Amino acid sequence: MSEVIPIASDHAGFELKEQLEARLRAQGFEVRDLGTDSPASADYADYAHPLADLVSRGEVKRGVLLCGTGLGMSYAANRHPNVRAAVAWSPEIAELARRHNDANVLVLPARFLSPEDAGKILDTWLTTDFEGGRHRRRVEKIEREDDTP
Ligand code: RB5
Repeated sequence: MSEVIPIASDHAGFELKEQLEARLRAQGFEVRDLGTDSPASADYADYAHPLADLVSRGEVKRGVLLCGTGLGMSYAANRHPNVRAAVAWSPEIAELARRHNDANVLVLPARFLSPEDAGKILDTWLTTDFEGGRHRRRVEKIEREDDTP
């Protein structure tokens, strides 16, 4: 069975979201589009929270968010336990977000990326493994006891 990848954006990320969905489907993923469904103005937190909740509860392994800068989406997603949402603006950042930080949500700054660059960032994030070792200890220190659901 193919992996389900949820994806969501606000209006600023809508167009790029549609393009990346096609890319994910072409790679064999089952895409779950959590909106927004048009370029009409939308509030990023309304889309970040449902996606982060899926990752937080372990219903999916990872997900993709997009907004203008990536910042609002990452702020909201990172409020959820066990979610590590990384804003990545280059393949190198995406690679390190996986290798060192075990990022389970990729956040793309849609207003600052070409579709080609966004595709490369997405592919890198999808295919790079977490290194573990000393990085596991560091990642484990992110969660605090009073954050657990
Ligand atoms: C929307 O205009 C913009 O503020 C939003 O997409 C995002 O960049 C917020 O962090």
